[in-house]
Amino acid sequence: MDNAPDKPGTTRARRPGPTFTSARFTHFSMSSALTSLMPTRIGHEPATVLKGVHKTYRLDAVDVPVIRGIDVLVRPAAFTVLLGPSGSGKTTLLNLIGGIDRPDQGSVQVAGQDLGTLDDDALAAFRGEHIGFIFQNFNLLPVLDAYENIEYPLVLAGLAPRRRAQRVERLLKAVGLADRARNKPGELSGGQRQRVAIARALARKPRLVIADEPTANLDSQTGTAILQLMRQMQARYRISFLFSSHDPGLIGSADDLIFLRDGQIRQIRRRTLPGEASAPSSRLSTA
Ligand SMILES: Nc1ncnc2c1ncn2[C@@H]1O[C@H](COP(=O)(O)OP(=O)(O)OP(=O)(O)O)[C@@H](O)[C@H]1O
Ligand SMILES: [Mg+2]
Repeated sequence: MDNAPDKPGTTRARRPGPTFTSARFTHFSMSSALTSLMPTRIGHEPATVLKGVHKTYRLDAVDVPVIRGIDVLVRPAAFTVLLGPSGSGKTTLLNLIGGIDRPDQGSVQVAGQDLGTLDDDALAAFRGEHIGFIFQNFNLLPVLDAYENIEYPLVLAGLAPRRRAQRVERLLKAVGLADRARNKPGELSGGQRQRVAIARALARKPRLVIADEPTANLDSQTGTAILQLMRQMQARYRISFLFSSHDPGLIGSADDLIFLRDGQIRQIRRRTLPGEASAPSSRLSTA
């Protein structure tokens, strides 16, 4: 892939494949005047918006700045890939967006909700209801079978048994595991475990799904199948899907690409989504 950025707002043709717009974003990150103008909705749908986000870890009395001034908009109903080398801050950023951790400075708004205004209990409730997580190591409960792992968040949510069963069965079918419902994680392959995790992440119909290197523990063929499944699920349920990786081979799969390095966004590329006249340019984040 050619990493050279285009001028902001320009569109370039790629053959074959989608059309991207791209721009360097570093020069936006420090202007609060600009970020205050960042839209929080695209059309009718609320976006995920980060403004002036910083995160520093303290290790042995030394401050380690990990996220260093991030302004970004994650489009609703798009498949966004967060790319960056090891240590660039991908997991930290996903944890901030997912409400698992809080920023030292700046704001994180997910699906129209400013996470900074929520106390810990309200944040946990918001996470459960609106954000689905998929992890590199699957994080399934080993004593529960595939069906029960998917059902678990619905039990916590208090969904009636009949509706739970309908939803779990539909999800098992959607991820191709209808015949593995009674297998425990230890009786499933890595790819099948990740399918269960994808179904579990979708169970409560979240607005945003966050996947932190979900293919890293899978062989490349299984990883590709999982990527395709996530893409399919994203399109079917029209949710935001934010997926981190350090594999630049994923570039062709994304609607939007966010390139992270040293805790800052170096480049964003967006492509036209179905129903859009043209892809929003870099100005999406500032106009
Ligand atoms: N809890 C923590 N305390 C101190 N430093 C941390 C902590 N978590 C992460 N870091 C540091 O923050 C930096 C970014 O870590 P992060 O896990 O976000 O990177 P990453 O891009 O996800 O990397 P990888 O691709 O290897 O998963 C690293 O230098 C890491 O050592
Ligand atoms: Mg990571």
